[in-house]
Amino acid sequence: MTDSRETKQKLSDDDFDFVCNYVYKKSRIVLSDTKREMVYRRFTRIIRDRHLESFSDYCQLLRSDPDGEERYFINAVTTNLTSFFREEHHFDYLAQHELPNLIKKGSKRMRIWCSASSTGEEPYSIAMTVKESLKSLLNSWDVKILATDIDSNVLNTGKEGIYEYKGVEDIPEHLVKKYFSRGMGINSNKVKTTPDIQSLITFKELNLMNEWPMKGPFDVIFCRNVLIYFDKKTQLELFERFHNLLAPNGLLILGHSENLGVFQQHFENVGRTIFRKLN
Ligand SMILES: C[S@@+](CC[C@H](N)C(=O)[O-])C[C@H]1O[C@@H](n2cnc3c(N)ncnc32)[C@H](O)[C@@H]1O
Repeated sequence: MTDSRETKQKLSDDDFDFVCNYVYKKSRIVLSDTKREMVYRRFTRIIRDRHLESFSDYCQLLRSDPDGEERYFINAVTTNLTSFFREEHHFDYLAQHELPNLIKKGSKRMRIWCSASSTGEEPYSIAMTVKESLKSLLNSWDVKILATDIDSNVLNTGKEGIYEYKGVEDIPEHLVKKYFSRGMGINSNKVKTTPDIQSLITFKELNLMNEWPMKGPFDVIFCRNVLIYFDKKTQLELFERFHNLLAPNGLLILGHSENLGVFQQHFENVGRTIFRKLN
């Protein structure tokens, strides 16, 4: 049996460096020394789940089968924290500015990409916002929300649309009633998203560092709270690719602690971490 103190001693500098390089190569996520505790915790779980004896055993496995282990290991090291209507002002901006503008322009098509969608709360929040804003107009509109993430486990949660009831407690009650059905009996602490909002979203596995199969253009791209895991060079590469995939005047929405850096010159800042493409 592996004791946690014992395994901690076995996370050697060599193994830690190897893991940091592996993760960077596969996902561009930067695991610096400040993430050592996090790596240790995730490793402990992996070793338990895989019935291994030590961190070195798992590093050995990663070295011998780097591609075969990729999905499992990347799923294990990603941080998937999210919630419904997280950074609410972004959804307010869509409801109060973007959607009314599109309606005014007579547009009937909207493409939204949620590029690090985690367990789905973000794309479902977008879907509720769109439904509430367009109301009956939605019947004559063509709206699609693409939700992607590198982590296949979180995408499965999104596809299922089943969440703990406490996750929706802060959503206005009328939205919970309209867009979630409550479980019964032993599932009464769970809710499931209704087909109404599910049908607007397509969940797909996509590593932002790989080629993007979709052509766009997108009216809105959400890339929130994932850039913080990447270095500046990777962020700039992504901004350029997002810019290319956005429709004229399209919106790029980042997380609260993220910014465009020198790429800001290609966008107008129209709200808190909301950027409109300059053409
Ligand atoms: C902290 S969550 C943010 C979720 C959501 N965007 C939000 O703001 O609430 C970061 C997400 O980015 C995903 N991620 C990390 N690296 C990625 C990559 N290279 N490509 C695509 N997704 C990635 C993780 O799997 C995780 O689900």
